[in-house]
Amino acid sequence: MTMTAPLAGRSVLLVISGGIAAYKSLELIRLLRKGGAEVRCILTKGGSEFITPLSVSALSEHPVYTDLFSLKDESEMGHIRLSREADLILVAPSSADLMAKMANGIADDLASTTLLASNKPIMVAPAMNPEMWAKASTQRNIETLKQDGVTFIGPASGEMACGETGLGRMVEAEDLFDAICSYFAVSAPLAGYRALVTSGPTYEPIDPVRFIGNRSSGKQGHAIAAALRRAGADVTLVTGPVALPHPVGVRTIHIETAAEMLAACEAVLPCDIAVCAAAVADWRVENAADHKMKKRAGAMPPTLNFTENPDILATISAHKTRPQLVIGFAAETEDAVSSAREKLVRKGCDWILANQVGTTENPAFGADSNQVTLVTRSTTDPWPTLAKNEVAERLVERIVNFMKETDQTNDQRSPAKAS
Ligand code: C5P
Repeated sequence: MTMTAPLAGRSVLLVISGGIAAYKSLELIRLLRKGGAEVRCILTKGGSEFITPLSVSALSEHPVYTDLFSLKDESEMGHIRLSREADLILVAPSSADLMAKMANGIADDLASTTLLASNKPIMVAPAMNPEMWAKASTQRNIETLKQDGVTFIGPASGEMACGETGLGRMVEAEDLFDAICSYFAVSAPLAGYRALVTSGPTYEPIDPVRFIGNRSSGKQGHAIAAALRRAGADVTLVTGPVALPHPVGVRTIHIETAAEMLAACEAVLPCDIAVCAAAVADWRVENAADHKMKKRAGAMPPTLNFTENPDILATISAHKTRPQLVIGFAAETEDAVSSAREKLVRKGCDWILANQVGTTENPAFGADSNQVTLVTRSTTDPWPTLAKNEVAERLVERIVNFMKETDQTNDQRSPAKAS
């Protein structure tokens, strides 16, 4: 993170509703883009009476979304994805009407539906006539929204476009920009740290059309990469073939074999944190054919000779630019915790998340939940069964604490950390 791009890698969804203050949102888009943020915009019908979709789209450098039932908008970026892919949603200006809809769960246009479908933090910058602001109904809605966790920025006091004076002016674009920057600075405990995550299976070729793979879905590794990114880290994800979208804001490198995964990981070093969640094949076929093997009547089936793959976790742990914290996974069908501790020592990593797989209670591979035990050199901490993204959030909390403590102890920054 640098001073010139405080919002690099951040994605903001800006909802512009009807109000003369909408012109300030154009300036805000410009500031956000200059600050490094990705900006997507929803313009309500009211909003488009004040500013044009063309200005919004030209400044944000993305199509502007206006209609819930637009086939074009929904096929390009559906309303659920719009709300999910942003790190933060800002409603500016927010009309009394849109606040009333939000407070009451009404979803009758693209803006209100996206806000209702959202699982992201929401900020609201109200803009309305002072009488509308002071009205009991509006104040009730504000209370409800605050209780629901919505953050209010403004309104400010002053002369209104209608000629009246009082509370209800939308704050200036610069103030909104500052509020967004502070939000991300506080919610980014790993800002300035570089993290590497491996995820998914590896495919080891037998011939150009056949391979040996495994059942890893990549869900856990991808969830960890996304959680590290949300905590502000600069994340590179090295992934085998999976059917998952890239986590937003994460540099994603696709590989197939273990050898390719190792090369991609080594190219990322130095970094501060490495999480090896990939299910890397232990062996590859030494005598892989460079043409498709043919089945011939009466001939013996081919014999595959195996050779050992490099161990990526062990290589990173022993690397001359070893990350401060190296974390591995150990999926075992029996005795997961003691195998994990043995693995931790043998591979030289700091922590291992051990999980017993293949049981009916914890199939792990492909499932959405996981029961893991965090094993360190001196502690064993069994976690309850959690959704994979909850496992990721909890792991990132531990990583944040570890990095804070280590930085305090060393009183210096690791070489990989941006200064
Ligand atoms: O030895 P095992 O495969 O059980 O170890 C699991 C841990 O080691 C995981 O973190 C996995 O990503 C990592 N690993 C690796 N390279 C390998 C094999 C495993 O990074 N070749």
